Amino acid sequence: MFRYVRILATVIGVMATSITYATTPVDELLTEFRQQGATEFSAAAGKIFWNQPFQSVAGETARRCAACHTTDLRQSGKHVTTGKEIKPMAPSVTGKRLTNPEKMHKWLKRNCQWTLGRECTAQEKGNVLMYLKDQ
Ligand code: HEC
Repeated sequence: MFRYVRILATVIGVMATSITYATTPVDELLTEFRQQGATEFSAAAGKIFWNQPFQSVAGETARRCAACHTTDLRQSGKHVTTGKEIKPMAPSVTGKRLTNPEKMHKWLKRNCQWTLGRECTAQEKGNVLMYLKDQ
């Protein structure tokens, strides 16, 4: 009897530990961005950033994250230069979204460079992830 109680206690203990320490790939990136000096992240600021126009190339239409990904994250986007379809950014619609740290790093770098004409700051990237992750 005691043995079963002990086993049960161990199982519950292991489960509780894994719940406490479960981190998602997004959490991993947010931790990195904090280490790079970012402070509190804001989904509201991320949403504004997502839709904000950046005049990164003089004389051209302003560029925005939403230009390729749309303002409605549950909808498919369309690449503004190649015309290729981009799956919805909302993880609730496209299950694999924001699950691969390398992919997130790669595309954040590339898309910030294209959209803003520079890399995004740790703060900007964290805000955007806060916005995207709960969609
Ligand atoms: C010129 C078109 C274009 C613009 C503008 C653009 N993106 Fe993207 N983005 C893509 C493509 C293409 C992919 C990769 C294909 C995919 O994941 O469906 C991608 C992927 C991503 C991913 C990876 C998602 C994942 O599944 O992990 C993130 C994050 C992202 N973009 C954020 C941004 C942010 C933030 C901006 C604005 C600073 C932005 N994008 C602007 C085309 C664009």
